[in-house]
Amino acid sequence: MTKSNLFYQNYDLLFQSKDYTREVNQILNIYRRKNQKTPRRVLDLGCGTGNHTRELAKIVPHVTGLDIDPLMVKLAKIKLQPFAKRASIINLPIEKLPLKFKFDLTVALFNVINYISTWPELVSFFRGVKTHLTSQGIFLFDAWNGVAALTDPPRAKSWVVKTKLKTIICHLTASSDLWEQKTSLTYDLEVRTNGKRKQDKYLLLQTLWTPFEIRSALNFAGLKLLFCSPLGQPQKRATAKDWKIFFGCQR
Ligand SMILES: C[S@@+](CC[C@H](N)C(=O)[O-])C[C@H]1O[C@@H](n2cnc3c(N)ncnc32)[C@H](O)[C@@H]1O
Repeated sequence: MTKSNLFYQNYDLLFQSKDYTREVNQILNIYRRKNQKTPRRVLDLGCGTGNHTRELAKIVPHVTGLDIDPLMVKLAKIKLQPFAKRASIINLPIEKLPLKFKFDLTVALFNVINYISTWPELVSFFRGVKTHLTSQGIFLFDAWNGVAALTDPPRAKSWVVKTKLKTIICHLTASSDLWEQKTSLTYDLEVRTNGKRKQDKYLLLQTLWTPFEIRSALNFAGLKLLFCSPLGQPQKRATAKDWKIFFGCQR
């Protein structure tokens, strides 16, 4: 991954079509259906700029946002300032998080596990999740479905975001490698503000885990799979054609 200031500064605008409120409601409903209560402590693992963390902090008593990227953490800390009593943001990998308490619910949303490049690292990440989960706790995450994404790889797309202050033009290109199970995404950004123009690139390498690899890693880490659904449709079972899959697990 290469750093790009423009990507970080404009992350929330670039992904403004994501409905974080709806996603958090869905997640909390899954937890409530299983445990008949709202979770007290939630871990937002791979919190990025803190959009799920903020929505969670509006509802649950304690939220921790964790991310390995210091630039994301910086943005999340600013966003979560109004929720300082309920939320904390930490720049550590889950494996190094001190065990002060356990979480009732851990989420890793918007392809966090696809940033992990090797299977042993994926197992280690899941072990970290398990260590920090209460006995009734659940772990919810989403990921690319490697089977679908390698058969029908991500394609180039462009989009424009306009605000009163600036226009952002993003050209996304993707190149996928079947044998390495990787897709390399390049965000070519141009930001126009008051007649000035800035350009930057952000490169992101994602591992296209197959559902079998994910399930085996969960097993190895001692987590049990509860369900596996197409993203945004928790009542359905995922198929080989669904690009994004939503997983639910417990200890
Ligand atoms: C696409 S962003 C999603 C951010 C946020 N969850 C959202 O939905 O906007 C993925 C995030 O996962 C973080 N990440 C990747 N690998 C991680 C790891 N092993 N532990 C913690 N965070 C990780 C990245 O730094 C990045 O901020």
